[in-house]
Amino acid sequence: ATGLHRVPKALSSMYFYDDAGSRLFQQIMQLPEYYPTRAEFAIFREHGPAIAAALSPADGGAFSLVELGAGDGAKTKLLLRELLHNGSAFTYAPVDISAGAMTGLVVALAQELPSLRVVPVVADYATALTQLRTRPGSKAVLFLGSNIGNFHPVERLDFLRQLATPLAPADRLLIGFDLQKDPRRICAAYDDAQGVTAAFNLNLLTRLNRELGADFDLAHWQHYTDYSPLNGAVRSFLVSTCVQQVHIEALDETFDFTAWEVIHTENSYKFTLPQIEALAAEAGLRVVTH
Ligand code: AVJ
Repeated sequence: ATGLHRVPKALSSMYFYDDAGSRLFQQIMQLPEYYPTRAEFAIFREHGPAIAAALSPADGGAFSLVELGAGDGAKTKLLLRELLHNGSAFTYAPVDISAGAMTGLVVALAQELPSLRVVPVVADYATALTQLRTRPGSKAVLFLGSNIGNFHPVERLDFLRQLATPLAPADRLLIGFDLQKDPRRICAAYDDAQGVTAAFNLNLLTRLNRELGADFDLAHWQHYTDYSPLNGAVRSFLVSTCVQQVHIEALDETFDFTAWEVIHTENSYKFTLPQIEALAAEAGLRVVTH
């Protein structure tokens, strides 16, 4: 909650994903407005064999398939099936910050793909990167769902460089970028009619109330989102609808909010192909195909 000392106030989107938040995100993925998940599904359905081949080592040997932010792994199952079908020798290492999501994924995989070797890790990205450095052998890394969009541009490059460092020239990395498109379509995806995205943001305050003994009154907060086609950033906010004070027991601190002051909760950047090419070059990665 240290972001509440910043101007403007901010909370990291990493904290969205307690078990309740992960469930709300699973609901978001089902929304008619939230197109990224369906788009990625369609890509995997259409190009599954080509993607599986591109992720496998050229020599047909064993490898680790590491997925950062695997969540419920619903899309990845298509790829996993494809890889098993090819007789690839690989271990699937999903990493997610939500223990609940990870348990759900492991149980589902044991039922649906019993022959798959799974080594789940409950960790944040920083821990995942550290573990990647000590993982021996051929590697393929998945970073899907436009999770990369949540990084600020400076942190994005830093993260990709750290991710690239433990990878050998023959290792593979598949990143799901959401491309810039009709601004209205993007806005709708982050401000759905049913209010699930609003609940997903407000859950952050419920979590602070529960875990840090805060006293946010949810009746005086609302969710707001904007998209700028100039920089491709969707920004999500929690808006204080009145003058209010919030006490956080664990910090032994009180925070003042003016009417309509915001807490910035998330960036979801949208990309262009030239940006992706430039990012890869700067991070020391070679684009093989997209
Ligand atoms: C899963 C982090 C990629 O930014 O699109 C969905 C999260 N936030 N609706 C995204 C999210 C609001 C999502 N990521």
